[in-house]
Amino acid sequence: MTYEEALQNARTEIANCHACPVCNGVACKNKIPGPGSKGTGTVAPRNYNAWQNIYLNMDTIAPNLGVDTSIEIFGEKFDLPVFAAPIGAVTNHYGEKYDEYTYTRIMATGCRKAGIAAFTGDGLNEMFFEAGCAAMEGAGFGVPTVKPWHKELVFKKIDHAKAKGAKVLAMDIDASGLPFLKAMTPPSGSKSVEELREFIEYAGIPFYLKGIMTVSGARKALEAGAAGIIVSNHGGRVLDHTPASASVLPAIAEAVGDKMEILVDGGIRTGHDIFKALALGAKAVLIGRPYVVMAYGGAEEGIAAYTAKLKAELTDCMQMTGCATLADITADKVCHV
Ligand SMILES: Cc1cc2nc3c(=O)[nH]c(=O)nc-3n(C[C@H](O)[C@H](O)[C@H](O)COP(=O)(O)O)c2cc1C
Repeated sequence: MTYEEALQNARTEIANCHACPVCNGVACKNKIPGPGSKGTGTVAPRNYNAWQNIYLNMDTIAPNLGVDTSIEIFGEKFDLPVFAAPIGAVTNHYGEKYDEYTYTRIMATGCRKAGIAAFTGDGLNEMFFEAGCAAMEGAGFGVPTVKPWHKELVFKKIDHAKAKGAKVLAMDIDASGLPFLKAMTPPSGSKSVEELREFIEYAGIPFYLKGIMTVSGARKALEAGAAGIIVSNHGGRVLDHTPASASVLPAIAEAVGDKMEILVDGGIRTGHDIFKALALGAKAVLIGRPYVVMAYGGAEEGIAAYTAKLKAELTDCMQMTGCATLADITADKVCHV
């Protein structure tokens, strides 16, 4: 199956999403439940557009050494610096084709077969997190991503993920902006550095904080003991009028990049975008909506086809800019116009 075939199939298999030729957040603007971004719906398109305003510095006077796209992170080796982003409550957002268990299994296993791995999501129904953990266990690796619930529930979910074999955990701290979290008793949502440190110490395994958009937020994540952060605005779903993740990444990388791992998501769609993200200081990227579309349109084959497309594009970018390894993708390999 090709990427185009999976995309075509998805158009009749998925709800709320148009499986557009370019996944730029415009046609689904404001569609929640669904893949849209909140309020004016401009944040997801802004994420996408920001990558389009960065260009690659072509330079082919370089030793012809071949290209290695592999990465070591999370104590494992992966074929590409790419992970499927956590997407929770898929039936609610994308329709009846999959229940949570089937979707997360396809995603986690499909990603492993394609040489990468999946983060899995969380939600009000405890089954969402459990489905992700079961999928991670079946796939052999994955990153369960817990929401910032109240302490007892976070501890319970950490215990569950570790019992299922989690070697790495994440928390989408920016989910504080989701209405169902705000409405909970005891209160859930934003956490102090001390509260986060307690979670991270309790977990005792590398812990990543997702949803960091400022230098001060990154410094607080570091202070709390996070192994890394995901620079992300949740695809525009938690707060309207935020900048693009690509716009804030360089300053965050400059401030904490030598002390913790930095990943980024939001509007990354191609190998070219991955290259740009690495040049701006990210170690790896997460891709959300397009992997959902591939899962709905082609299950594991769709995930494999899209990942192969990303790899071919990234390889081309590296060859044409004189980068033999990911470490060679430095800030001078891109320009802004
Ligand atoms: C329908 C939907 C559900 C999501 N659920 C979660 C979730 O459970 N946990 C999480 O950390 N992020 C969640 N996200 C955010 C994504 O992980 C990611 O940060 C965002 O989609 C940006 O990446 P993209 O532009 O490649 O889609 C969700 C996004 C969408 C569209």
